[in-house]
Amino acid sequence: MIKSENEKIVHQQPFVGQPLDRVDGRLKVTGMARYPAEFPMDQLAHAVIVQSTVALGHIKEIDTRAAEAAPGVLAVLTYLNAPSTIPLESASAAPLQNNRILYHGQHVAVIIAETLEQATFAATLVSIDYEEETPLLHFDEERATRTDPDAVRGEPDAALAVAAVSVKGTYTTPTQHHNAMAPFATIARWEEDNLTLHDTTQGIAGVRKVVAKIFGLSIEQVRVIAPFIGGAFGSGLRCWPHVVLSAMAARYVGRPVKLVLTREQMYTSIGYRPRTIQHVALGATRDGHLTTIIHEAIEPTAASDNYSEDPTESTHTLYASPNLRTSNRQDRLDVGSPTWMRGPGEAQGVFALETAIDELAYALEMDPIALRMINDPPVHPDTGQPWSSRALRECYQIGAERFGWERRTPAPRSMRDGKTLIGWGVASGLYPYFRAPAEARIRIFADGSALIQTAATDIGTGTYTIMTQIAADALGIPPGQIRCELGDSLLPASPSQGGSVLAASVGSAVQAAAQASVQQVLTLIQHDETSPLYGASSENVIVSDGRIICKDNPSQYETYTDILKRHGLDEIETSGRAAPGDEREQFGTGVFGAKFAEVRVDIDLGRIQVTRMLSVIAAGRILNEKTARSQIIGGTVGGVGMALFEQTFMDETTGHIVNANLADYVLPVHADIPPIEVLFFDQPDTNLNPLGIKGIGEVAIVGVAPAIGNAIYHATGRRVRDLPITLDKLL
Ligand code: MOS
Repeated sequence: MIKSENEKIVHQQPFVGQPLDRVDGRLKVTGMARYPAEFPMDQLAHAVIVQSTVALGHIKEIDTRAAEAAPGVLAVLTYLNAPSTIPLESASAAPLQNNRILYHGQHVAVIIAETLEQATFAATLVSIDYEEETPLLHFDEERATRTDPDAVRGEPDAALAVAAVSVKGTYTTPTQHHNAMAPFATIARWEEDNLTLHDTTQGIAGVRKVVAKIFGLSIEQVRVIAPFIGGAFGSGLRCWPHVVLSAMAARYVGRPVKLVLTREQMYTSIGYRPRTIQHVALGATRDGHLTTIIHEAIEPTAASDNYSEDPTESTHTLYASPNLRTSNRQDRLDVGSPTWMRGPGEAQGVFALETAIDELAYALEMDPIALRMINDPPVHPDTGQPWSSRALRECYQIGAERFGWERRTPAPRSMRDGKTLIGWGVASGLYPYFRAPAEARIRIFADGSALIQTAATDIGTGTYTIMTQIAADALGIPPGQIRCELGDSLLPASPSQGGSVLAASVGSAVQAAAQASVQQVLTLIQHDETSPLYGASSENVIVSDGRIICKDNPSQYETYTDILKRHGLDEIETSGRAAPGDEREQFGTGVFGAKFAEVRVDIDLGRIQVTRMLSVIAAGRILNEKTARSQIIGGTVGGVGMALFEQTFMDETTGHIVNANLADYVLPVHADIPPIEVLFFDQPDTNLNPLGIKGIGEVAIVGVAPAIGNAIYHATGRRVRDLPITLDKLL
């Protein structure tokens, strides 16, 4: 339960839009916020996973005798003794169901022991003999097959052939891992046939549903709890096999079981961003109007799973072009499944498209912002729908002024400082707008305080805080008197915190629940002759500072406390539900932003330093400038990592990930990160929902890598189409 600490700005409505400190900040910095591995439990046993060291084949023999005899070991589960579960469509959720090996790192046994150390030691004693088959591990674009029919507008190839100016290139992005700070953890506890999971997840409902299905339970028999998690970036959007293993282990030993992935297992057990090969071709008139866009993307995926994403999706919305073709193909490999990672698809796809646009700007000898402006589509290019709001133009205008873009000299290598080359680059960021049905409950108590309840998780984005702000305005109760409870499947249903949907989805539900509360209080007093608000209706009152106040005569008011007490009520409780309407049929939608980067490159060594980053974001109403800014800063850091550092290396003969640790998987550190400036074009989009919210989590990262790559080209004259841009590629 969270209580706001923001006493100093408590009396300044509206609260939505204010840079309120995180209401959960104190809990986090004092260690009082409970993360999934931190729930104390009597009789807790510890589980450690044993993973396959081959990529394809089957287990011939598994010898667990030494492990079973090791000190403290309660049980060793393998396919031989694991309880059978109900199969799912995707092979990778339910572990230990047979002796087949489908990828390196597949969970093949779990040790359950009294202590973590005992389980860890016993795991080394399991001896496995495999019958190996030759795995497909080399990513091959020729083998890839289409996921969907190509999306075609006009005559893209014919238009390319006759284009006055054209560019063409192949762009590649590497495998990346999410690298959440907190290792993923699950504590599973059974009481009879009821299962409780404390789990690192972005989506309580999803885990609940999958686990219920696998164990043949009703939804009500499974409770999933996750009030706080230490990052996820998309890796918490699925129910992974280790979650199921925890539940299986707890049932087997008849005790609660805790399973925490090791840092190395964080690279093998919870997905990754798939690498891409992308071919982009653009054609334009001499004056810079795009005549055709061709964007082909190829990604690997797991042969044993069905994950797919579309790196070409944004290409349909970013530019007006009469002709366009996008295609999306997958190469199915014997690897663990990829999954969503911040800006899934868009982060890679926009790198290719926005680098190609920069190349076209040079081919046309045009300013890259000017080129983007003249091709900015007035309506949705596929459908002709009007935009609900777009404002990418405004983002570039504001950003160019702030960044000092007019001082940029266009020629590569034309800006220097002694032996340092300076480059400025831009790129667009975008992400689709989505919203999902959500429910929330509001309780107002006789002491004048209120409680918000919904099952959503806050993965660190600020959900506790923004929901408190929304409820504060709708109830007229200061944030300091509102608590927010999240992250428990017993609470009203919420979508996953993913795809940038949560603020708009759950925010709308919280607002609806709060409005219903006010309505209910009004029904109490409307017919109450002793009330100064006798006869009032929702049109002629306002709510503020714990009171319901007559609009025309503010001296006439009543507090929630007085009303509840007079009616002998301890509390009133209301629910709210919100769901998307037909806004996506009516409007072209999306979240947009302009990203500006400055790099300095050492002329002799090729060493690259990002020295300035500016993001200007148009994401509808900004609920809290402070938490929103943090989101954009985090995504920008992720974008710097994508541009310059991050890549996962897999040994293509074994499927082994060779840099599965935070030393060899290079992430940006403080010294790599420049001052990051964030500006918002704060324009509520009430075409989409009453609060005018769009969602900012993904747009934060999209476009950062190409802005940096374009800046590197401007600095050096070297076009690197292969991420990450390491210094060896510049020499
Ligand atoms: Mo995001 S990839 O939907 O966590």
